[in-house]
Amino acid sequence: MDPVTPVPSSLTTDLAAVVGADHVLTDAADVAPYATDWRGAYAGTPLAVVRPGSTDEVSAVVRLAHEAGVAIVPQGGNTGMCGGATPSGDGSQVVLSLGRMRKIRDVDPVSSTMTVDAGVVLAEVQQAAASVDRLFPLSLAAEGSCTVGGNIATNAGGTAVLRYGMMRSLVLGLEVVLPDGRVWDGLRSLRKDNTGYDLTQLFIGAEGTLGIVTGAVLTLHPATPARATSWVALPSVAAAASLLPLLRDHAAERLTTWELVSRPALDLVVSQGVPDPLACDAPWFGLIELAGPAGATVGDDLESALGAAVEAGLVLDAAIAGSPAQRDGLWALRERISEAQESLGPTIKHDVSVPITSLDDLVSRLAPALEQALPGIRPIVYGHVGDGNLHYNLSRPESLEPDAFWARAAELSAIVHDCTVELDGSISAEHGLGSSKAAAASAYKSEVEVSLMRSVKDALDPRGLMNPGKVLPLG
Ligand code: FAD
Ligand code: MLT
Ligand code: ZN
Repeated sequence: MDPVTPVPSSLTTDLAAVVGADHVLTDAADVAPYATDWRGAYAGTPLAVVRPGSTDEVSAVVRLAHEAGVAIVPQGGNTGMCGGATPSGDGSQVVLSLGRMRKIRDVDPVSSTMTVDAGVVLAEVQQAAASVDRLFPLSLAAEGSCTVGGNIATNAGGTAVLRYGMMRSLVLGLEVVLPDGRVWDGLRSLRKDNTGYDLTQLFIGAEGTLGIVTGAVLTLHPATPARATSWVALPSVAAAASLLPLLRDHAAERLTTWELVSRPALDLVVSQGVPDPLACDAPWFGLIELAGPAGATVGDDLESALGAAVEAGLVLDAAIAGSPAQRDGLWALRERISEAQESLGPTIKHDVSVPITSLDDLVSRLAPALEQALPGIRPIVYGHVGDGNLHYNLSRPESLEPDAFWARAAELSAIVHDCTVELDGSISAEHGLGSSKAAAASAYKSEVEVSLMRSVKDALDPRGLMNPGKVLPLG
């Protein structure tokens, strides 16, 4: 990486000439929303925030920054969990917001594809697909604010991965502005293309460290208007894991969602006004959804699966949504947890995955280890159990000040991550690494794997100007 070059004073003027003066922000109040993440857990000080309105403008901005030796931090909806879209604190980096690039360029119901700008909000993609009787299945609680570019950069997961896979399964082609400002037009909509290395997949999950995604061709699925949704009470995590094959035996590919919620996580959302449909004294709960085309017998499939599950002792009690409003109520029990936990003070987040057969072991080991390390600590555990992915999120003991709790983050995270890795798991299932987990991920990976990752980074971004310190630690 080049030594830090003094920033030419003309840079902001040159940027303004490209995007217009209104779209280069430097006042502290104007840059504030872009300088910190949504939780206020990570904060920085950008040199400027630039808001280009087209791919050509992104390219010109990146070229200017490259010539000036200034690093760029891409930002979409700023809903990420790991500080990936937050600039450093030394005022040396430009935040490039994709927020003005919100065009849906094309929707093709015959080939079941949609081509979009990177700044389009996920919920708008879902609505555009629905308007032509198709489904864009990526679904997560931040869908009203997160962008397609951010979903691609983080390889987002969410609540329908079980059936449709993660974001990388939903992208056919990309348009990317490379670190020196060149544009790679890979906006292909082909289902089959074996002409060499898969560059599209390389940029997915790269968290803006290899280039800036400006456009994407997405793949759509058949609409699933028939839905059957249930909230279940469970005796254990082991039962939750055993329920997966049983649900699949009854529903096959119609099983779309299988989510787990711990008792403390449920109590938290209920305390914030979401009604509990069961009032059952169980330690674990879950949300199940089956979906299919109009006329599909998903309700019958769900009832027969639940009957078999109760008989097998895997489910203690169940409520089935009888209307769209009741379905929304059941979903709220799961989707409101993340934001509800912020009311307890700073959350130390963990997004781990293990083989589904090891989930019970993970939970059984972590609870006593964490309690021993910090008596009174409050784990709020929930997640995408069908994917073996738990959010093992920690809140402070009531008696401990927020700052004192946050100061213990590294030590507490090491307990969660060591145990995950011992069980052959991953320390980031779906949120990515950002700045918060870059060093830890490199420490757990083999030297060979880290050096391959560094070779890719150095080949595409030899000057290290694209979102430095994210994914791979500095130095
Ligand atoms: P940002 O937060 O702006 O950026 C995230 C990363 O992507 C950063 O590294 C940034 O530099 C990079 N980036 C952004 N845009 C681009 C671009 N155009 N080109 C290159 N790099 C770019 N995530 C899940 O996976 N599953 C969940 O279930 C889930 N649930 C959530 C629930 C809540 C309530 C919230 C607040 C968040 C949740 N998230 C979840 C996390 C988050 O919404 C996702 O990571 C999302 O994909 C981020 O999109 P964004 O546009 O907000 O990206
Ligand atoms: C979710 O699934 O709700 C989020 O990914 C979890 C989190 O906020 O940690
Ligand atoms: Zn999640």
